[in-house]
Amino acid sequence: MIGRLNHVAIVVADIQQAAGVYRDILGADVGKPVDLPEHGVTTVFVTLDNTKIELLQPLGEASPVARFLARNPGGGMHHLCYEVSDILAARDRLVARGVRVLGDGEPKAGAHGKPVLFLHPKDFCGTLIELEQV
Ligand code: CO
Repeated sequence: MIGRLNHVAIVVADIQQAAGVYRDILGADVGKPVDLPEHGVTTVFVTLDNTKIELLQPLGEASPVARFLARNPGGGMHHLCYEVSDILAARDRLVARGVRVLGDGEPKAGAHGKPVLFLHPKDFCGTLIELEQV
């Protein structure tokens, strides 16, 4: 059911500094910071040949990644994003197998404007999973 690894997301305290690490030390293709107030994050995408890295910095008081950063002040890996061709069919298949979908269970527009859902880390080996319809 899942296709390509779309991105690996890393929560950071200072997105400019993190972007500099990827650009200047690792020599990667690093995009510009984009604020997504409806998601409570500022994002920078790093484009690799085979996938992307999504750097996330909390934006605003109610940011969903603020608590993660409080527990991991040096930053850390936050989620993996897998591509699916039909997100509603994927959700229904997973729910039928007992998987917990976060939030109200309805897809939201993600960082690329495409529908996304998040799945409970306890159902996936301790890793938060994002599904993105491509
Ligand atoms: Co993501």
